[in-house]
Amino acid sequence: MHLEKVSIGIPREIMPGEKRVSAIPATVEKMIAAGAEVLVETGAGSGAFVNDDEYSEKGAKIIADVLELYKRANVILKVKEPQQHEKIGKHESELFSENSVIISFLHPAHSVNHEGLKIMAKRNITGFTLDGIPRISRAQKMDALTSMSTVAGYKAVIFAANHLGRFIPMMPTSYGIINPAQFLVVGTGVAGLQSIATAKRLGAKVKTIDIRPEANEQARSLGAENIEFEVPQELAVGEGGYARRLPDDWYERERELLAPHVEQSDAIILTALIPGEVAPTIIEDKMVSKMKKGSVIVDVAVDQGGNCSLTRCGEEYSHDGITISGIMNVPATLPVDATNMFAHSTFNFFSYLIENGSVKTDTDDEIVKSTLVTHNGKIVHHGTLISMGMAD
Ligand code: NAI
Repeated sequence: MHLEKVSIGIPREIMPGEKRVSAIPATVEKMIAAGAEVLVETGAGSGAFVNDDEYSEKGAKIIADVLELYKRANVILKVKEPQQHEKIGKHESELFSENSVIISFLHPAHSVNHEGLKIMAKRNITGFTLDGIPRISRAQKMDALTSMSTVAGYKAVIFAANHLGRFIPMMPTSYGIINPAQFLVVGTGVAGLQSIATAKRLGAKVKTIDIRPEANEQARSLGAENIEFEVPQELAVGEGGYARRLPDDWYERERELLAPHVEQSDAIILTALIPGEVAPTIIEDKMVSKMKKGSVIVDVAVDQGGNCSLTRCGEEYSHDGITISGIMNVPATLPVDATNMFAHSTFNFFSYLIENGSVKTDTDDEIVKSTLVTHNGKIVHHGTLISMGMAD
């Protein structure tokens, strides 16, 4: 990899509660070894416990003025999508220098980000989104979405344990045995599987449900008990093996099937998603009202709207004795490991994109095609254009 004439900016994240940062000293060192200049905003790593000195020891320049950083950098690595920079009074998409390259979770299908994308396109910024990295084996080491789902699934169980009014493992006591807590994991993709593994390590009994047979098999292999929900595969699984939105009557059947299991659960972890769409509502108010007091629901699907009708975005609250957690952006709550994984995936993706000193934008390449969002003054990402109603 040759990065001569490349100036890489690592800004401090501005989303409230975001503690991750897009580069760590180890990845900065590799960029500098390849010939790049690396500019790190003062305090960028503080949320993940990385000091400015640790970056400068590897050769990075620490920049106090973020406007200067954006002006000098021709590549920006960022965790979260551009948003309004309150201190400066401008949207971040207006701060990147014209013709620069941005790599971040742009979440381009989400309507709140469309205005920022239009600004990026207008300013001729080449934007790549990390949530578009395809789930193929050669892209695994660039797949930040998977590593962040791993964090979310793990941390969801820790949140549940923290709120649960009872032990998780079976406890022999002087007056008899206390039974282990019963967990229910809805959706067993990357996050759900990590929730099962974590709950099992804590000694819980775990039941699961998913609409993809592969996911059910993986859940079983971790020691969970599947709740049988046989959805015809042509309805459940779409292109690339991903889950599809079901017809409404199938969600009704799923809720009926789940109701007795919900009632018996001490903790429910919700992770059911449909790629690029709003999450389905699987747990309704009347199901929650039958749960035991002191039980917990952690809705990890909250960033996509949530799987429980009672989830409040960004809040943890008690609903009639049941704690409902809707903490958003869960990976930011485990900043050290999440940052390590994020920084490595982002660096690997960036290295992949660099060819002969410039960034690949040829959409014949599957990885470029699914991640390139803005280029040559246009929004070019198919999923984004569909969500904007602009697809051909
Ligand atoms: P996701 O985060 O989009 O969805 C989570 C889970 O929710 C999925 O398992 C889905 O089937 C399930 N779900 C959707 N609707 C549901 C419903 N009504 N009831 C219950 N569950 C429901 O999925 P994730 O974790 O992103 O994984 C998607 C696929 O990608 C999987 O097949 C996974 O094995 C694969 N994958 C491949 C990788 C690679 O090869 N590099 C890396 C990561 C994932």
